[in-house]
Amino acid sequence: MCGIVGAVSSRNITPILIEGLKRLEYRGYDSCGVAVHQDGALRRARSTSRVAELQTQAAEDGIASGTGIAHTRWATHGVPAVRNAHPHFSPGPNAAEGAAGRVALVHNGIIENHDELRAELQARGYVFHSQTDTEVICHLVDQLYNGDLLEAVQQAVQRLKGAYAIAVFHRDEPQRVVGAREGSPLVLGVGEGERFLASDAMALAGVTDQIVYLEEGDVVDLQLGKHWISHAQAGRFTAVEREVKTVHAHSGAAELGPYRHYMQKEIFEQPKAIADTLDAVETIGPELFGAGAAARFKDIDSVLILACGTSYYSGSTAKYWLESIAKIPTSVEIASEYRYRDSVPNPRQLVVTISQSGETADTLAALKHARSLGMQHTLTICNVGTSAMVRECALNYITRAGAEIGVASTKAFTTQLVGLFLLTLTLAKVRGHLSEAQEADHLKALRHLPVAVQAVLALEPQVVAWSEAFARKENALFLGRGLHYPIALEGALKLKEISYIHAEAYPAGELKHGPLALVTAEMPVVTVAPNDALLEKLKSNLQEVRARGGELFVFADADSHIESGEGLHVIRMPEHYGALSPILHVVPLQLLAYHTACARGTDVDKPRNLAKSVTVE
Ligand code: F6R
Repeated sequence: MCGIVGAVSSRNITPILIEGLKRLEYRGYDSCGVAVHQDGALRRARSTSRVAELQTQAAEDGIASGTGIAHTRWATHGVPAVRNAHPHFSPGPNAAEGAAGRVALVHNGIIENHDELRAELQARGYVFHSQTDTEVICHLVDQLYNGDLLEAVQQAVQRLKGAYAIAVFHRDEPQRVVGAREGSPLVLGVGEGERFLASDAMALAGVTDQIVYLEEGDVVDLQLGKHWISHAQAGRFTAVEREVKTVHAHSGAAELGPYRHYMQKEIFEQPKAIADTLDAVETIGPELFGAGAAARFKDIDSVLILACGTSYYSGSTAKYWLESIAKIPTSVEIASEYRYRDSVPNPRQLVVTISQSGETADTLAALKHARSLGMQHTLTICNVGTSAMVRECALNYITRAGAEIGVASTKAFTTQLVGLFLLTLTLAKVRGHLSEAQEADHLKALRHLPVAVQAVLALEPQVVAWSEAFARKENALFLGRGLHYPIALEGALKLKEISYIHAEAYPAGELKHGPLALVTAEMPVVTVAPNDALLEKLKSNLQEVRARGGELFVFADADSHIESGEGLHVIRMPEHYGALSPILHVVPLQLLAYHTACARGTDVDKPRNLAKSVTVE
């Protein structure tokens, strides 16, 4: 999703801005741009191609300066086109066609009152050249500018409704960039005699590791070798101190190695990601989740899980564990729904957010909403230790999946499940539902997981054979029961997001209540069939499909006695894995989606319309 980089330095920062954009590239974007203050004027290059193309364009145009901003855009308002790409310029009101810019601005987020502001600015003579909400902010800053960029930005942000992180500079102040954030992340990088801005510290890897995480409502003034942060209270800005942290942000530029795509690499990294996530776990206890966890876990009477997409499905799986093993009532809500609905708050509920990125706007907003309702016991299972989610939650468990580059989440999902299983065992222990012997058995099973996942990965050639047939289909149905129903949902999501095949998942028992009507010879039905208490029920559901001519593709545990036959294809999973079985069963579904997408020739790591890290609502 959109990325921001900005800098004020005495050296040429164009390479730093471009390199920063490259580090954010994997998140998905459809256009990009860079603007600098050069020879007393604003200069820019914009492209609907890749950042590498922008780099060539900027070099050819001789764009070089110590002050500048850059952006990768993921379209929300207005199609992907050069005129909509950031940075936007404002040449001032009643400017002639092609007039030079006075203000340059980049923006992440969505401005909700842009229509109202646009009408106001048009009445003042501002001409709009893009369809974006961003151009509104740019003209607004210009309109409010009276010789001091900081003041203009402080006034402008008070007029904005919605979410934003912005970086802006003015023609008349050559060594100054001002940034502001509300609802979208923005960090300040502190270098020797230079200052930087970025939407993620990762963009500044190799430039500076001295990072200030700006808070909601902060406005930051960057000048050569100094900065000043202000924060609005009751409409007045006052100076605030924010801690400078040493952050060893990874570069995000992981090597592909022998793999064709990052998604494939990340699927195969799962044994290591799981082992790393478990590395520090010696025994089960609240201390795994941070200081103060013991007191909070004693106080809680239920769990509320908030997340989006794949992370929501890991939460949905955990509900089964939490209720059956820890015996604690658990609800799971899609964050974008929860944040806007009337719910009954319970201060004794543990609010668990799950997020790979830790920056998902809806999940962050849902967390804040829960807190505003008086729910203060908050915990996140998150893959990025420096993210907003971790900073906002009282407790955390950091998964160690490493950078996930492919847009479709894979290793983040399985490591989230590991974190959630540890939470389940901890709450079970605190609540007296876990004997020493049970704890030892579960820990043993967890530690054996990397080996078990490795054995599942060895099934890849069999899955490749199936993917040829899938690539020719336009629809697919996924079935699971109980603990494996969320795994069926995750399998369907993976298939649809990267292969663009329409896929739906149902709990198998629901088939005859409607979806059976869809079953024909043209509808592949993928079934997750572990050898658990529901296996016999599931077998009956499979008969229902076969009786209607549906073609079944079943991932069955070795001992589930489902044999291949006409219209029934079976891949045998190496072993039955009890409560942790979802972590194994999701792996072949990831592989199926991946190889089907490859067979269809889609852009696997950057599927159309999707972005990694959804920082807008
Ligand atoms: C799907 C996928 C998304 C994310 C969702 C939440 O493969 O990656 O559905 O799971 O956007 O993102 P995080 O986990 O970063 O909050």
